[in-house]
Amino acid sequence: MVWTLDRLSFARSVDAAQRDDVSSNGSQVSSTVTDPRAGAVLAARGLSKHYGPFRAVHGVDLDVREHDIHVFIGPNGAGKSTVLNLLGGQILPTEGEVYFDGRALGRTRPSWRARAGIGRSFQLTSIIPGFTCLENVLLAVQARRGLFGLLRLHSRAVDVARADELLELVGLHGAASVPAELLAHGQQRQLEIATALAARPRVLLLDEPSSGMSAHERAGLGDLLRRIVTSATVVMAEHDVHLVRDVATRVTAFSEGQKIAEGTAAEVFDAAEVRRVFLRGRRDA
Ligand SMILES: Nc1ncnc2c1ncn2[C@@H]1O[C@H](COP(=O)(O)OP(=O)(O)OP(=O)(O)O)[C@@H](O)[C@H]1O
Ligand SMILES: [Mg+2]
Repeated sequence: MVWTLDRLSFARSVDAAQRDDVSSNGSQVSSTVTDPRAGAVLAARGLSKHYGPFRAVHGVDLDVREHDIHVFIGPNGAGKSTVLNLLGGQILPTEGEVYFDGRALGRTRPSWRARAGIGRSFQLTSIIPGFTCLENVLLAVQARRGLFGLLRLHSRAVDVARADELLELVGLHGAASVPAELLAHGQQRQLEIATALAARPRVLLLDEPSSGMSAHERAGLGDLLRRIVTSATVVMAEHDVHLVRDVATRVTAFSEGQKIAEGTAAEVFDAAEVRRVFLRGRRDA
């Protein structure tokens, strides 16, 4: 299964999304194209999220390289999900900025970012009970087409083929006609990834995709993530150290809202500060 995300179509989607953003809610997107952040597809500078005096995330700089599986690690409450939400626009920063392809995202909404190419998978919310797996993915594929695309006569057959392709990619081809709510929890996570991929994201944000998965499903998840990064970039939070060591091409470690280490999995798990934080976490548990 192959698709291409060429720069021209991305530029068009950004322009269209910007027009839509300004006309629909008047919010502003900075037109400043910053330095390309050394080729980073997604970047952050000085990113902070404070709740009153509490610093959930503070002063985070980040560079996500295209086609990486970039994994956030850290103990509970370290700020991993908050950073993912800041990147996806689900929450807005107290300070700092997120850049997509060198362009400041400002206060753009998640729907705007999704159209521009930043996809997000949520725990279970994207699955519609009462619909089969195929129907769930088909709805997501059709949502991407929009009304104009749906009017094209051949589009349903094309969409079904695309939905089939996505189910195959995530390893759920045999479950196409199964109602989504009957899937095991781990399989629902796989379905969720298929629906997120329907939008052909350039970057896919995943929050603990292995949660609720069996050991067997986790092994399959590693292969799935490697298939996804042939056409997209993955940024994910993950607790499973074996999975992180297996798939991550880059790792950022967080503790108490701040970045404490970054590099390959081996480098990060070897860093003195990371070992200290993880050992402390185990003693607290
Ligand atoms: N809306 C909020 N109001 C106040 N504090 C919040 C809010 N959202 C998150 N926090 C706090 O911010 C900190 C970081 O939370 P976050 O969910 O990002 O951690 P995490 O690294 O994803 O943890 P986990 O591994 O348990 O998922 C936590 O102390 C959390 O309680
Ligand atoms: Mg979390």
